[in-house]
Amino acid sequence: MNKVLVLHGPNLNLLGTRQPEIYGRETLNDINNALYEKAAVNGWDIKALQSNHEGGLIDAIHAARDDGTAAIIINPAAYTHTSVAILDALNAFEGKVIEVHLSNVHKRESFRHHSYVSLRADGVIAGLGSQGYLAALDALIRGAERA
Ligand code: DQA
Repeated sequence: MNKVLVLHGPNLNLLGTRQPEIYGRETLNDINNALYEKAAVNGWDIKALQSNHEGGLIDAIHAARDDGTAAIIINPAAYTHTSVAILDALNAFEGKVIEVHLSNVHKRESFRHHSYVSLRADGVIAGLGSQGYLAALDALIRGAERA
């Protein structure tokens, strides 16, 4: 069974009520449940985790090196734009990495235009809201990533 780790970065626990005009009204549970459902239908195994702490995300990436995780879908949230440490952790992970953003970061403030994680990601999805996570899982299931 293919195993995927879904990582949600800081403040994404507030989805549904956090700036809904940007991030939508779906909660993190809604997003995770849709992913669990799609994974189950396709015989894939998902583990989803949210952390407001850089180290928590890094520890989860380290654990994924040794537990048979085939791919990581990650929305590093604000750490996207700041964290060399998360980039380094992902560089130490040998599976596929898909970076997801709910909003189109390229349409927003210039500090959101740069992503450290994109230097490692096999695919990047931005601006499709919660559908972006499902598109990422779909691409992994189909083996579509090309980087
Ligand atoms: C985000 C975009 C980031 O710039 C921001 O800091 C977030 C969420 C997104 O999903 O659109 O927290 O990653």
